[in-house]
Amino acid sequence: MRSLIDKLYKENNLDKDKMLELLNNMNDKHKEYLTEKAHETRMKIYGNRVFMRGLIEFTSYCKRNCVYCGIRAGNKKAERYRLSLDEILNCCETGHRLGYRTFVLQGGEDEFYRDEKIVEIVKTIKEKYPENAITLSIGEKSYEAYEKYYEAGADRYLLRHETASKSLYEKLHPNASFENRRECLWNLKKIGYQVGAGFMVGLPGQKNENFVEDLMFLKELEPHMVGIGPFIPHKDTALAHELPGTVETTTTLLSIIRLLLPKVLLPATTALGSIDPLGREKGLKAGANVVMPNLSPTNVREKYSLYDGKICTGDEAAECRKCIEGRIIKAGFSLDMSRGDNVNWSRKLY
Ligand code: 5AD
Ligand code: FES
Repeated sequence: MRSLIDKLYKENNLDKDKMLELLNNMNDKHKEYLTEKAHETRMKIYGNRVFMRGLIEFTSYCKRNCVYCGIRAGNKKAERYRLSLDEILNCCETGHRLGYRTFVLQGGEDEFYRDEKIVEIVKTIKEKYPENAITLSIGEKSYEAYEKYYEAGADRYLLRHETASKSLYEKLHPNASFENRRECLWNLKKIGYQVGAGFMVGLPGQKNENFVEDLMFLKELEPHMVGIGPFIPHKDTALAHELPGTVETTTTLLSIIRLLLPKVLLPATTALGSIDPLGREKGLKAGANVVMPNLSPTNVREKYSLYDGKICTGDEAAECRKCIEGRIIKAGFSLDMSRGDNVNWSRKLY
């Protein structure tokens, strides 16, 4: 097993069978070695810095029906909200004052915000804060739409592939296309975005074979960012009584991804922090190097409820900023408030 980890560390790759062997035989001892190698790799490339992104959840309306998700269209109990441009700008102002140089605009797939509206939002933020990076995370759109947002000034786009297993994807995403989601990721890359893919860990029925598919897909796509977090049941979904994913499996996969894609920007996600009070710290120690504290207005936080038990829903942006800084330092890392672009990326000029 040690030799497989060494191979992955040196060559940043493993074939399918070996990857499955590694996952199937993981134990405390191997995991310790894997973590050590992942940590070594992150230190070599990014040092002990942890990049900060300010997350603005600007709409909880969504036209899709992902079975696991609390804001799915079919959940009539979900409370919905939309932020106006002014409200979004207020979040940016607070964020900028607190030192954030990346704003992540995330929302459900909400057709209220037509492409022109998104363009207006991106342009207005860029004019006010030209030094900031803008990340969009608003789901599947056409090539032309992605191109318009990029030309307006968006730098990055997060679109998790959710799972690279076609059958599992189709079970969890009614009336959605597995192929289209992947196509979107390739389109985003082609346009010039820094692209974030990613998946959930511990979905009902998910096996190590499925994780191998996720890892192979990531190696092929070579995204600049990878967001992974445990699946956490939401009480108003059909998966309410399923078990959540574990910290152990999530951190193992974080370490493997650090070794597969050494330069990747890898968040220790809110979901990981929600299943374990020290989840994010464990993620950072396993190779993650990004955290994404919330900048959404506190009065809407509870409503952006993708899963139960989400942390930080009651905390002001300034409190989250301070809290996370303390945690990062206590875990032995240092805070980096710069834009934190992927070392392989620069903006395409037209
Ligand atoms: N548990 C964990 N993560 C979830 N997401 C959505 N619902 C859940 C859940 N129940 C994740 C998806 C999505 C991201 C914004 O949140 O991976 O891409
Ligand atoms: Fe909104 Fe899945 S329910 S993207």
